[in-house]
Amino acid sequence: MKRNRLLTLICFLAGMVLSAEAQDTSASKGTRLSLIPQPLNVIEAPGSFSLKPGTSIVIDGGDKELKRTASILSAHLKSLTGFSIPVKTGAKGNVITLSLKDAPDSLEKEGYLLVSTPEGLTLRANTNQAIFYGMQTIYQLLPPNGELQASNQITIPAVTISDKPRYGWRGMMLDVCRHFYPVDFVKQFIDYLAMHKMNNFHWHLTDDQGWRIEIKKYPNLTKTGAWREGTLIGAYSNDQKFDSVRHGGFYTQDQIREVVAYAKERYINVVPEIEMPGHAVAALSSYPELSCTGGPFKVGKTWGVYDDVFCAGNEKTFEFLENVLTEVAELFPSSIIHIGGDESPKTRWKVCPKCQARIKAEGLKDEHELQSYFIKRIEKFLLTKNKDIIGWDEILEGGLAPNAAVMSWRGTEGGIAAAKQHHEVVMSPNSHLYFDHYQGKASGEPLAIGGYTTLERVYSYDPTPAELTKEEAKFIKGVQANLWTEYIPETEKVEYMVMPRMAALAEVAWTQPSEKNWEDFKRRMEDQYGRYDKMGINYSKSAYNVRQKIVIESARSRATVTLSTDSDQPQIFYTLDGSEPNTGSKTYLKPFDLFRTATVKAAAFKNGKQIGKTSVQSVVFDK
Ligand code: ACM
Ligand code: ZN
Repeated sequence: MKRNRLLTLICFLAGMVLSAEAQDTSASKGTRLSLIPQPLNVIEAPGSFSLKPGTSIVIDGGDKELKRTASILSAHLKSLTGFSIPVKTGAKGNVITLSLKDAPDSLEKEGYLLVSTPEGLTLRANTNQAIFYGMQTIYQLLPPNGELQASNQITIPAVTISDKPRYGWRGMMLDVCRHFYPVDFVKQFIDYLAMHKMNNFHWHLTDDQGWRIEIKKYPNLTKTGAWREGTLIGAYSNDQKFDSVRHGGFYTQDQIREVVAYAKERYINVVPEIEMPGHAVAALSSYPELSCTGGPFKVGKTWGVYDDVFCAGNEKTFEFLENVLTEVAELFPSSIIHIGGDESPKTRWKVCPKCQARIKAEGLKDEHELQSYFIKRIEKFLLTKNKDIIGWDEILEGGLAPNAAVMSWRGTEGGIAAAKQHHEVVMSPNSHLYFDHYQGKASGEPLAIGGYTTLERVYSYDPTPAELTKEEAKFIKGVQANLWTEYIPETEKVEYMVMPRMAALAEVAWTQPSEKNWEDFKRRMEDQYGRYDKMGINYSKSAYNVRQKIVIESARSRATVTLSTDSDQPQIFYTLDGSEPNTGSKTYLKPFDLFRTATVKAAAFKNGKQIGKTSVQSVVFDK
């Protein structure tokens, strides 16, 4: 092909192309550690502490709770080593000490100080919760595969770690309405949060497609509202088809108490969400008199937003919600309750005589102010139960309730607006923290709702917007990711969508920006994957998918191909003739040039096995 010919390059690339950065592994040089989330302060030293027969755990100060934590540690270490590491109240020799004495005030409530030397390991904190976090760090100091090393022992590197979180709210939401998951899985999900040092589990319990919490006063909610007669097949479209499989389930109040207690032992607060005024079709199917039209309704079989919402003009609506919330407030010790507030169309309210009469009687401007009236009334009621409310950012419309916290999901604008009004904010923008979005090129992923939220994109998120003053920024209480489950019928797929993005979220929530480092995170993730493997988690390997970036230089009839992944120093093999890459193919070391038509197929390999999907891109040179 001659120079200066007209060059047309056709690139078949469905996904997004991100540029590959130069590899910078400086942050990882020489370290023996792979902690996630990265602690505030880490000083490594030569030598190690050895777990071996005769090692014991000693508790210093504290009470039954510390003893319980120590027993959990003891059991975990025994399961790894095979020998007993008993809990004692005083012991000499090779000892792990858990202490609630003499921890610096600067560690506050969630920080810990961990000192490991060849002579012993000491974990010190001001609270049991922080000891629990330090214990998660101890687990990560152990070899990820947990294998015994030489001479029947496991070593923990000598290190001093002083650590505390950046944000006080570190969480994840799980939608159990679009698909229902059993209690045991909910507990497993809580375990995943705990190992990532998260402290809030937001449980989305009611929606159009299912009501999932037993309410004694309103049995129809679970008799009728917990079940749908079928579910949309495939992606949401204009031509919808449904299966006729009855789907549903709910948690009894005993099960709710069981989950709350389980979470508490892991220092996780459970925030229930009861949706209002929208996303209420399951409730309205059970009690149609609470709607504007009177129904009848059927529990939703498809996704999206439904026009039928709770009638804001009907006193019975408030009586119902107050009774429901009274039971909810008793079940959940959380000081904050999520009242939804998102995606509530005003269609019915605009033509409902009762709603219009309410607007008139209360001197409201429009239906947005009616929604604001609704939420304020619920807030006032919940304050009598000593509960604050949090709602999705639509609760800003028509005026925020006086004490309401805002969960910013439609980007960060709602969170910024709320912080400027001195309301507390939890950031969970769909731009970075919706884990129902694709994490790799859609063509290589199971069906998802849309989006493109790679591990790197999650990692890159900073919850405190630059637009805020220092004073306003104090209202950013934290951050969470959300898992909506329209396209997630199985628990295995929940794990796939959530992991490993939860690890990136953990670091967004816990680690100070000065300590964050994407290149080093990728290195640490290699051990984190080992931990997930050991736990049998069905995590996604999409971070190993190869991205191709092709830069065309027409003047020189040249295309430069750069291959990258979201994994550490990937071993990438590629072909140019359309054949499947294998370990005998060309090794990718650095960007390469193409001068003629080719189909680039590339994949990452680990221990001789392909990991992640093959990426294909055709480059056509034409006249
Ligand atoms: C939401 O995603 N509708 C809060
Ligand atoms: Zn109405």
